Amino acid sequence: MPTPTKKNLKLGWIGIGRMGYEMAARLAKGGCDLTVWNRTAEKAQPLLAHGARVAKQLKELASKDIVFCMVSTWDDVKQVMERLLSGAEKPRMVVECSSISLEGSAELRSILKEQKIQYLAAPVSGNAKVIKAGKLTFVVSGPKAAYDAAKPYLDMMGSGSSYVGEGELARIAKICHNVHLGVVIQSLCEITVLAQKAGMPRHAFLDFLNKSVMGSMFTRYKAPALVNLDFHVTFTPKLLRKDLDLGLDAGREFDVPMPVTSLTRDLLQQMIGQGMTEQDFSTLLLMQAKASGIELKPENKEVGDGLAS
Ligand SMILES: NC(=O)c1ccc[n+]([C@@H]2O[C@H](COP(=O)([O-])OP(=O)(O)OC[C@H]3O[C@@H](n4cnc5c(N)ncnc54)[C@H](OP(=O)(O)O)[C@@H]3O)[C@@H](O)[C@H]2O)c1
Repeated sequence: MPTPTKKNLKLGWIGIGRMGYEMAARLAKGGCDLTVWNRTAEKAQPLLAHGARVAKQLKELASKDIVFCMVSTWDDVKQVMERLLSGAEKPRMVVECSSISLEGSAELRSILKEQKIQYLAAPVSGNAKVIKAGKLTFVVSGPKAAYDAAKPYLDMMGSGSSYVGEGELARIAKICHNVHLGVVIQSLCEITVLAQKAGMPRHAFLDFLNKSVMGSMFTRYKAPALVNLDFHVTFTPKLLRKDLDLGLDAGREFDVPMPVTSLTRDLLQQMIGQGMTEQDFSTLLLMQAKASGIELKPENKEVGDGLAS
């Protein structure tokens, strides 16, 4: 593969969902030679304005140097990969960014190895808004030479990548990260409802928390949702449940007890069981309020998301 100078490789992109759209848009706006494909074709059309091409058939991407994939679950990845690899032409490298299991990732590695295609597992941290703010991060595993070739493109999509070694190690890192996400949002909802029931406005409590050592990019960018009850979806409860399940599976595989994760998974399941599936996962706040016997109202306060700087 030629040495990448940001724009000289031909890139393909599978999956123009909430995440895939923003990631692909950054590559297109950066001047990359990019062809995208999405199952629901119309979602990809706005990328034409940024210089991307839209493929009619998934297998058109097989002629590219690097094909990125950002779909939902391992079953979805498997389906799109089967279609990508169904013809004679093969891409030189696949960079798979969806949050999938260790086993799925290992199966994909062996399928691609048989066809002499390099493979990087490259899941991400951040939502669509984080990508827009240029703060997406990747955790990557696979052959180091493949990482070096893909790195300039990963850099264009966010604020950097962490190479953690060979094989599927990046999947474990991502699973640990999302287990933390689930546990933190549940805890944040608990303490926000506690603070409010004790008498203080949510915006005042979260202002304190977010300025403190316990504040993080995540707690800051979730503050507007928790204060104003804007549950426009960034990540669905079902996708989070999938990640907690992946964490619990990994805990079983490596004999690591994960009691806090188990409890959080059950709380999330209660919410999903009540039909709360279409809004953001931070609707855990509403569940917590209900369990605490209070009804929340939007505070209609302008609260920064901390992503501007
Ligand atoms: N949202 C977040 O904050 C976030 C953060 C980090 C990681 N992730 C992970 O990133 C991945 C994508 O998340 P998202 O929020 O972008 O999800 P999304 O908005 O639901 O997008 C999913 C994408 O996958 C495509 N897709 C799903 N199943 C498919 C199949 N069987 N065949 C072909 N295409 C298929 C969808 O196509 P259609 O448009 O046709 O439905 C869509 O383009 C997930 O693994 C998620 O866990 C999400």
